[in-house]
Amino acid sequence: MRPETLQILCDPFSHQSLEHIVAQSGEYLVPTDRQRRYQIRDGVAIFTDTGQLEGLNLKYQRFYDRIAFFYDLYVKAMAAILRRRPWRAARGELSAAVGELRPSDRLFEVGIGTGLNLEVFSREVQYYGVDISWNMLRRCRLRAIRLDRPVELFMAEAEALPFKQASFDAVFTVGGFNFFRDKRASIGEFIRVARPGTKVVIVDETAKHVRTVYRRTPIARGTFKGQMEDACAPPIDLVPQDMADKRCELLWDGRFYCVSFAKP
Ligand SMILES: C[S@@+](CC[C@H](N)C(=O)[O-])C[C@H]1O[C@@H](n2cnc3c(N)ncnc32)[C@H](O)[C@@H]1O
Repeated sequence: MRPETLQILCDPFSHQSLEHIVAQSGEYLVPTDRQRRYQIRDGVAIFTDTGQLEGLNLKYQRFYDRIAFFYDLYVKAMAAILRRRPWRAARGELSAAVGELRPSDRLFEVGIGTGLNLEVFSREVQYYGVDISWNMLRRCRLRAIRLDRPVELFMAEAEALPFKQASFDAVFTVGGFNFFRDKRASIGEFIRVARPGTKVVIVDETAKHVRTVYRRTPIARGTFKGQMEDACAPPIDLVPQDMADKRCELLWDGRFYCVSFAKP
């Protein structure tokens, strides 16, 4: 873990600073009051371990742990077929609202999954990602090693982020938001960790995409059972009034929404 990363990390629950400790049993991050300790496993700090979650987060942690092996194949094929473009170009359309970044800007992806977007953004930016699925994070780590692309990974929930306020120059999430257990709390967290002036971008599937693709795909069929229209609505009403430049657009022929705003 880079020293500058330790400086922006905090306990996701108490927001205390963290100290990096190497013990005989392994490496840990410990908050100032020493009431907890978070293990670092294969370079990934674990703030919320397998099985510790509740509600939708537990359901989708299990789901993504199960499908991690097939995820890239499915997403790349879907992007290429639906957009008739190479998958990187098609996926780039989904995160385009993040906009231009300067070299060494800190870019934060919530629900980074297997790290497909590492191949979309410039290598110059400092990339940070969190996810609740260990199997997805493990694949992300292997991708980063294969690409020789530094990325700082954390196992944590969107609703309780392990970063101090005003840590990032861009915050985005693609494909996970509809699954988050507490959408309002997660937007609050995106705003907390964003620097003033930072763009926040939330992209996810619309009900149209779920109806026409998920329902016909064996691995995705079980998602959004009985709650599709609500769960897939663009969360524009959850964005606080005082945020600047609020927008809601549709991408990929209405299959994805993109809600974006800037922290004033
Ligand atoms: C569809 S995948 C998207 C992965 C990646 N963003 C991409 O574009 O390929 C959604 C990811 O969000 C993660 N996720 C779901 N709920 C989450 C939560 N509450 N906090 C953090 N990550 C979450 C899942 O584990 C999964 O890896």
